Amino acid sequence: MIDDSVASAEITQYLRSLLKPNDEFLRTLEKEALEEYIPVIQPEVVQLLRVVIKSAGIKNILEIGTAVGYSAINFARECESVVTIERDEDMVRRAKENIASAGLDDKITVVCGDALEFMSGDNGTYDMIFIDAAKGQYIKFLPECKRLLRTGGILVSDNVLYRGSVAKEGFIPRKHRTIITNLKQYLYEISNDKELTTSILPIGDGVAISRKGTDDNA
Ligand SMILES: C[S@@+](CC[C@H](N)C(=O)[O-])C[C@H]1O[C@@H](n2cnc3c(N)ncnc32)[C@H](O)[C@@H]1O
Repeated sequence: MIDDSVASAEITQYLRSLLKPNDEFLRTLEKEALEEYIPVIQPEVVQLLRVVIKSAGIKNILEIGTAVGYSAINFARECESVVTIERDEDMVRRAKENIASAGLDDKITVVCGDALEFMSGDNGTYDMIFIDAAKGQYIKFLPECKRLLRTGGILVSDNVLYRGSVAKEGFIPRKHRTIITNLKQYLYEISNDKELTTSILPIGDGVAISRKGTDDNA
């Protein structure tokens, strides 16, 4: 298994070998982030979301978890606007610098603060919401994400398989217990919610794609 993927190293390497390479700006940004152990969206997940954005008529995106702005920059190249939330002030500063260097500050708004707090006060409507933040909190984000997502919109949740740990039986080390319990509850909720149709894919660290419908036609 490649360190950051739940799929085998062989499959992951093969999938990545088929992707068109990043341009130099994104290559450098990704490399610098990974050298500092700042996790960024994996190449095969970016590609999946490019397909989703293009095919589901996604114009505006809310992202939870900006880090250095790598995923936001990727998304903004495919849609009209991105609002991205980050609670770490240093990351916010770095993301803003990177977004300006990418020439995308007219398309991307970086909000500094806690995602749940921001969402509770937000009355926007989004075509897609991408959750890539503290995994133990996804379950708390869910009601606000559902409220802010338009009918027909797409909720994408990253890292939901937590390196395969959510599927393992038996002893869970104490430091991972709450995260795994919360993630399992989250996956159960999005899989059984009347308004959501969800598919969970074992690429990257596990990606869940949920479409919001109405109670009758989810
Ligand atoms: C995995 S990184 C995001 C990577 C980014 N999406 C990318 O692919 O380039 C997760 C980020 O979420 C932020 N974060 C975690 N929980 C948060 C919360 N409740 N509100 C806002 N930001 C949060 C962390 O500070 C961290 O920088």
